[in-house]
Amino acid sequence: MSEALVLGIETSCDETAIGIVRGRKLLANVIASSVEEHARFGGVVPEVASRAHLEAMQPTLKEAIAQAKISLSDLDAVAVTAGPGLVGALLVGTSAAAGLALAIDKPIYGVNHLAAHVSVDYLTHDLPSEPTIVLLVSGGHSSLLQVNDITGEIIKLGETLDDAAGEAFDKIARIMDLGFPGGPAIDLIAKSGSTTAIDFPRGLTTSKDWETRPFEFSFSGLKTAVARYLEATPQYAKNDVAASFQEAIVDVLLLKALAAAKKTGINSLVIAGGVAANSRLRQVATERCAAQGITLRIPSPGLCTDNGAMVAALGSLMVSAGRSASPIAFDAQSSLPVTRISL
Ligand code: KG4
Ligand code: ZN
Repeated sequence: MSEALVLGIETSCDETAIGIVRGRKLLANVIASSVEEHARFGGVVPEVASRAHLEAMQPTLKEAIAQAKISLSDLDAVAVTAGPGLVGALLVGTSAAAGLALAIDKPIYGVNHLAAHVSVDYLTHDLPSEPTIVLLVSGGHSSLLQVNDITGEIIKLGETLDDAAGEAFDKIARIMDLGFPGGPAIDLIAKSGSTTAIDFPRGLTTSKDWETRPFEFSFSGLKTAVARYLEATPQYAKNDVAASFQEAIVDVLLLKALAAAKKTGINSLVIAGGVAANSRLRQVATERCAAQGITLRIPSPGLCTDNGAMVAALGSLMVSAGRSASPIAFDAQSSLPVTRISL
C-alpha cells in the first residue's frame, strides 16, 4: 500500500490535534488548544489539559474529516501519540484512536511524539537522505539524534542534562512577564534587540566539555545568568535581554548539531520540535549549514509546534515501510524514550 490514507491524533500536552495525510500529502490539520486555560498558571496543568482534550476531541475530529473531504471508512490506518507526554492527556488520545480503529476495523499505530516531530518534515521536503542528524528541540525535550530510519532506527547522541530549550524560553519569558508560551514572545521581541548586548554563557562548551560531553546540552546556567542580570539591572531593556538570551541558545544548539554532523560524517541536518519555529534559529542554521556544506531541513513554522499532521505523517511512513501495527490495547507511556518509535 503506497498512498495510505492515515489519520493522526495528538494529545500529549495542551493541543488536541488531528491531521490527515494521504501518503505524503497533507489533507487536514486541525488544532484545538487549551493554552489560554493554562496561561495564568505559567505552565500546562495536566488535569485541565485532559478535560479539555475530552471536550475538544469530537469537534476536532469532525472538522478534520470535513477539511480532508473524506469519510472515516475511507481511512487505511489510525495513528496516535503513545508518549512521551502527560499520561492523562495521552490516554484521551489513545482511547479515542482505539475506539475509532475498532469501529472501522483498521490498524492502529501508537507512535512516539518526538519521532513524529521529525517525520512532519517528510510532508514538506523530499525524504531526508538517511542517515541524518536531527536537532530535536521542544518544550519537554532537547536532544541530538542520528536517525538511520525514521520508522526503525533512531540513535540518541546526547540530550539536555537539565531544562529543555523550549522550557528555558518559557521560564525566561515568565520572569520577564512576556506570557506563556514564552518562545514565540521572546522570538518577537528579540527582533528589535541586540544579540550582542549581553554576553550570556554557552553551557557545556569548554574544551573539557567538548571532550567529555560534546552532544549534551545544559541551559540551567544560562537561566541563572539571565535571572541575575535582570535582578542587578532594574532598568533592563527587554528586547536586548531577549535577543542576547536567544542568541546564546541558538549558538549552542547549532555548535553541537554541526559538531555531531562533523563527527559522524553525516552532512544532513533536520531541526524539529516547537523551538524549530524560532526565526533566529532558522536564520543562523541556514547560514552555518550553507557555510559547511550541510543540507538543512526545517519544517514550516506552523508544523514545528505540536500538531496532528506529524502523527499522521509518521503513521503513513510506518504503513509504507510495512511496519507492524500496535496491539489495540497498548499503554500510553509518559516517558517513552525517543529511540522507541512505536509500541
Ligand atoms: O514541540 P512543542 O510544540 O511541544 C512539546 O512537545 O513540548 O514545543 C513547545 C515549545 C514551548 O516551550 C515553546 O515556547 C517553544 O516550543 N516555541 C518556541 C517558538 N515557538 C514555540 N521557542 C522559541 N521560538 C519560537 N518561535
Ligand atoms: Zn511536541
